[in-house]
Parts: sequence; structure tokens; C-alpha cells
Amino acid sequence: MPKEGIPTQQKSVDIASLIQEACTAVACSSPECHKDEIEHLMQHVLERVELEDFADTPVNNRGYRRKVLYAHPSGFFSVLQLEWQPGAETPVHGHNAWGCVGVISGEIGCETFKRCDVSEDGVASTGAIQAGRGAIATVNPDPEGIHRLFNPTDRVATTLHIYGMDLSDKPCAINVPYGTPAHQSAAS
Ligand SMILES: [Fe+2]
Repeated sequence: MPKEGIPTQQKSVDIASLIQEACTAVACSSPECHKDEIEHLMQHVLERVELEDFADTPVNNRGYRRKVLYAHPSGFFSVLQLEWQPGAETPVHGHNAWGCVGVISGEIGCETFKRCDVSEDGVASTGAIQAGRGAIATVNPDPEGIHRLFNPTDRVATTLHIYGMDLSDKPCAINVPYGTPAHQSAAS
């Protein structure tokens, strides 16, 4: 028996439980509140989430792999997990729906951009950050929140993504590409 006043270790949260909680959150709120509800849920559980093994999912030519874990039957949201090899990076992109991203393990970099007509690739960097386990970021649909994610470390990183649309058939349908054709050619 733990002594009174000594906190007990909190239970881990599996993906099935997380998805159930997310379904409950959107069922109890209007669509314009879904992003905030999902962010709130992530804030409560992210550091206890245990991702599924997905070693059978191939790594793409940009050094990361992604797996759609769930798509809500009404299309309210989709849940994906991603694994980032050292040096992996996405193309510069926006999103076709709101998104909420959390770091499960390792560290992930995020560079943000603004539209820039005089730039060759149409965007200009506004800075970059690096974040570790427990960090959460949200993004609004394009043209807000143009960014790229990357793994700047020598360790594998994993992230959990929840997007406000049905991605069961085309996971990349969430992305709005930016940049030059050469940069986008290897888009996942
Ligand atoms: Fe993104």
C-alpha cells in the first residue's frame, strides 16, 4: 500500500482508449470546438500514451513512416502515428483541416513559414523550434500555419497526429504543398 501523500504512478493510455476519449470529446461539442477539445484531451494523456508497434509500415523517401490508426465514421477526425528517422523531414506544407500534434518520444523540429511572393518557392521562414516528449502544437487550416517537421537529432522520434478530416483512404489529403516542384517531389 502506498503511503498517504505519495503519488502513485499513473496508468499508461493505449491507442484504443485515446480514440474512445476523442470520440466522446467530439460527440459532446460542436465542430468549431473539436480542435480545442482534442488539444485538451492530448494535454491530459499525451505523456502516458503508448503507441502501437508499426515496424511493418515502410519508411518513405523522406525518412519517416506514418500509419492511420483510426478515422471517425462521420469524418470528424483521423488519428495517425509517425516515426521519424534521424534527418527525416516533411516538405513545406499547410493543412486542409485543423490539426493537433504531440511528441511521444525523441525530439522533433518545426520550422514555420509565411507566404512570400518575392521568394522563389513562395514562402519565407519565420523561425524554428525543437520540442520533446509531451510537447503539443495545433494548426489551423491553410493558409495559416505553413510549416515543415523534421528530426534534427541522431535518435528516432515518434509523434501522434489528430487531424479534423477523414484520411482513411488518402492520408496525404491533409497536406497542402508549398515550395518548388523539386522540393515537393518527394512529398510523402
Ligand atoms: Fe503538418
